[in-house]
Amino acid sequence: MKTKPNPAVATSDRPRRNDPCWGGSGKKVKKCHMLGDRSESQDAASPRVRTGRPSNSLIKTPAQIEGIRRACALTRDILEQLPQRIAAGVTTNEIDRWVHDYTVAHGAVPSPLNYKGFPKSVCTSINEVVCHGIPEDRALKDGEILNVDVTCTLDGYFGDSSRMYLIGAVSPEAQRLVNVTRECLDLGIAQVRPGNFVGDIGHAIQTHAENHGFSVVRDFVGHGTGVSFHEEPQVPHFGRKGQGPPLLERMIFTIEPMINAGDWPVRILDDGWTAVTADGTLSAQFEHTLLVTADGVEVLTG
Ligand code: MF3
Ligand code: CO
Ligand code: CO
Repeated sequence: MKTKPNPAVATSDRPRRNDPCWGGSGKKVKKCHMLGDRSESQDAASPRVRTGRPSNSLIKTPAQIEGIRRACALTRDILEQLPQRIAAGVTTNEIDRWVHDYTVAHGAVPSPLNYKGFPKSVCTSINEVVCHGIPEDRALKDGEILNVDVTCTLDGYFGDSSRMYLIGAVSPEAQRLVNVTRECLDLGIAQVRPGNFVGDIGHAIQTHAENHGFSVVRDFVGHGTGVSFHEEPQVPHFGRKGQGPPLLERMIFTIEPMINAGDWPVRILDDGWTAVTADGTLSAQFEHTLLVTADGVEVLTG
């Protein structure tokens, strides 16, 4: 999702300065988690993550988790079936049509269709396209790298995941970018457990990407999901250990690092959606929807 100021949180949801901190530090809120709250209210346009106490809607009920698990299973099923349908000569519109029809045949709705005016059922992002590529009648070519980002709404619940697909033989550099991006997602997931923070995820991803000479896109972040397409919290793929909101059992969010072979700035094409690398270098992305469990993580789209 695009980074933007978080929706306002009801005042009654805010911690008071002298309350014991909800993060379990034993300190008062004003000594522990107030800083993020203050910076948000002073700079509403900042993409920085809010660090106030999470609203109750961030913690899913068992019934919601069950519904989201089913939506995620359908999303995974679709991504698993795509390799048989993707090859040089296939158009991204053909992929879009298949995803649409399969989703509907399974009693679900493709979440991207008409979402904020998005015209298709799936995002298809080729080569230097970072995310939100719009399916079209252009045929895929040998050597290209493609991200397909599928989101299903099933019984009102959302499952969001994306993978890379390689068209024929790709360059060693493209292969390396795709491998490292997949590793970035796995390293981010490995940070997910109660007691850790959103910043731990971004730190692990950024460190790995930059150690390989790649860069982390700043303009789009992971996000809470499940009951709406995009919920709090934002989950940047860069950051510092111990920063940002704490990870709590029964939160559900995505991690979806976009890693560029060159520099991280992006540009949006005139269609208002397609994000491309400003320097024209390749970009890759993998995404999973995750549930924080009592002692770790369940990859709902895995
Ligand atoms: N699936 C994307 C994400 O991971 C969002 C796509 S929004 C759309 O958050 F409108 F482009 F479909
Ligand atoms: Co997402
Ligand atoms: Co997605």
